[in-house]
Amino acid sequence: MKTIALGSDHAGYELKEYIKAHLTEKGYPVKDYGCYSTERADYPVYGEKAARGVAAGECDLGVLVCGTGCGISLSANRVKGIRCCNCSEPYTAEMSRRHNNSNMVAVGARVVGFDLALMIVDRFLEAEFEAGGRHEARVAMIEAIDRS
Ligand code: RB5
Repeated sequence: MKTIALGSDHAGYELKEYIKAHLTEKGYPVKDYGCYSTERADYPVYGEKAARGVAAGECDLGVLVCGTGCGISLSANRVKGIRCCNCSEPYTAEMSRRHNNSNMVAVGARVVGFDLALMIVDRFLEAEFEAGGRHEARVAMIEAIDRS
């Protein structure tokens, strides 16, 4: 079973806990990189922590939550090797795995309902990258883009 990194800011805390309970019930090992309450917390801190866990191989995939999903996905994408897409519906979450080899998904707790968030997360975790062809070549092109 894949190990899942979790991260959120205060706005995403309650949804992160909901996702954590769901994934634990399904048998996924989860590693929670914070935050740990609804007290104000800065999303770059937790986006980076969880992303480093995935990049280091402590976790296979990751799920991030902030108010919109924007700030925390932008933060995670600063970490080398992380491809995090902010998703509001399951189709994009699935295709981000299959075509973009995304290794983290972000959701906005102020955007999607809690049960839609679980559908997004499940579809993301169940999909596999279609390796070996044009999609792999394109992901390599993403990785090769100079950040300057
Ligand atoms: C926090 O108020 C909010 O700005 C944050 O959760 C997120 O939506 C930022 O992208």
